[in-house]
Amino acid sequence: MTTQISAKSNAPGIFRSTVISNRKLNPNCFLMRLMLEETKTASLPAASAGQFVMLRLSNSVFPFLPRPFGIMQVHKSKPFGACIYDILYQIAGTGTRFMSTLKPGYVMQAFGPLGNGFTINTGVNTHVIIAGGIGIAGVFMLVRELSKKQDANNTIHLFYGAKTARDAVLLKELKKFKINTLLSTDDGSAGQKGFVTDIYRNFSAKIKGKRTVQVYACGPDVMLNEVMNVAKNYSHLCQISLDRRMACGIGVCRGCVCKTKSPDKSPEFMYSTVCKDGPVFDMNSLTNTKNEV
Ligand SMILES: Cc1cc2nc3c(=O)[nH]c(=O)nc-3n(C[C@H](O)[C@H](O)[C@H](O)COP(=O)(O)OP(=O)(O)OC[C@H]3O[C@@H](n4cnc5c(N)ncnc54)[C@H](O)[C@@H]3O)c2cc1C
Ligand code: FES
Repeated sequence: MTTQISAKSNAPGIFRSTVISNRKLNPNCFLMRLMLEETKTASLPAASAGQFVMLRLSNSVFPFLPRPFGIMQVHKSKPFGACIYDILYQIAGTGTRFMSTLKPGYVMQAFGPLGNGFTINTGVNTHVIIAGGIGIAGVFMLVRELSKKQDANNTIHLFYGAKTARDAVLLKELKKFKINTLLSTDDGSAGQKGFVTDIYRNFSAKIKGKRTVQVYACGPDVMLNEVMNVAKNYSHLCQISLDRRMACGIGVCRGCVCKTKSPDKSPEFMYSTVCKDGPVFDMNSLTNTKNEV
C-alpha cells in the first residue's frame, strides 16, 4: 500500500521569489533561501518531497530558459500566505554561476511546485534513501518526512555519497533527523571510502530476506543505474528521481523525455516527460536511466 506525503492541493503557480540569503557551503555549492510573496493561489507550501520549481533567473534574455531546482524544504506553511523555501544548488554552468552572485533582495520568478515527487510506501518496514552529490537536495524533504515515521517497526536509512569531505554538505542538519546516516566519499576523506552504492549493496546483503525494503534515490545516472541493479538483485522496491535538461517544466516542449515501458508492451517503450510524468519514477517503469531519444 502506498500513500502520498501531502494531500493538500499543490497545483503549480508563478510566484515572485525574493532572495533572503545565498550561503556558500563550499566553492561549488550554495544554499539559497527565498521568500515567496503572498498570493491567493500560493501552493508551494504544499509541495511534496521530490517536487521542483523552475526559476527564471532574470528578466533579460540571459539566462533565457528557467532552470529546475528541487524544493529542499519549505519553512513556513500557511494555506494562502507567504512562505520561505530553500534551494540547494551547485555551480554547473552559466545559470547557476549567475545565481551564485545573487544578493539578498534580488527578485526572481518561480514556477512550481512541479512534477511528481516521491511516494512514501507504507507497506514496507525499511526505507532506504540514497543520495549522490547534489542529489541530497532532492531527498532532503523526504528524509524529514520519513524520519517522523521512524519507530520500532519502521527503520529509515540515509546513504549519502559525495566526491570528497568538502562536497558532503548539510551533515549537521541531517544529523538532527536522527536516522541511520552513512556517508561515503570517493577518496575516503570522510565516511567510508568508495561509492554510496557499495554501502547500499553491503546493507542489502546483511538484511537479505529479513526486511521489506523501499528505496528512494536521487543522484547522477551512473549511481541510479547501479542502485537499480542492486534493488533488482535483492527484490527491493525502488523509486528514482531523474535529472534532465528542461525548458518548459510542464510536458509541452518534450525536451526532457526518457524511455519508459509502455503499459501493454506494444510498442516496446514510450517516451515520458521527466518534468511532468516524473521526475520520480518507479524503477519498474523505466527501460534505463540514459537520456536516449
Ligand atoms: C527536476 C530537477 C531538479 C533539479 N534539482 C537541482 C537541485 O536541487 N540542485 C542543483 O544544483 N541542481 C538541480 N538540478 C540540475 C540543475 O537544474 C542544473 O544544474 C542547472 O539547470 C544547470 O544550469 P546552468 O545554467 O548552470 O548550466 P548550463 O550552462 O545550462 O549547462 C552547464 C552544464 O550542465 C549540464 N546540465 C544543465 N542542466 C542539466 C540538468 N538538468 N541535468 C544534468 N546536466 C545538466 C549541461 O549539459 C552542461 O554540461 C535539477 C534538475 C532537474 C531536472
Ligand atoms: S521540460 Fe518541456 S517537456 Fe519537460
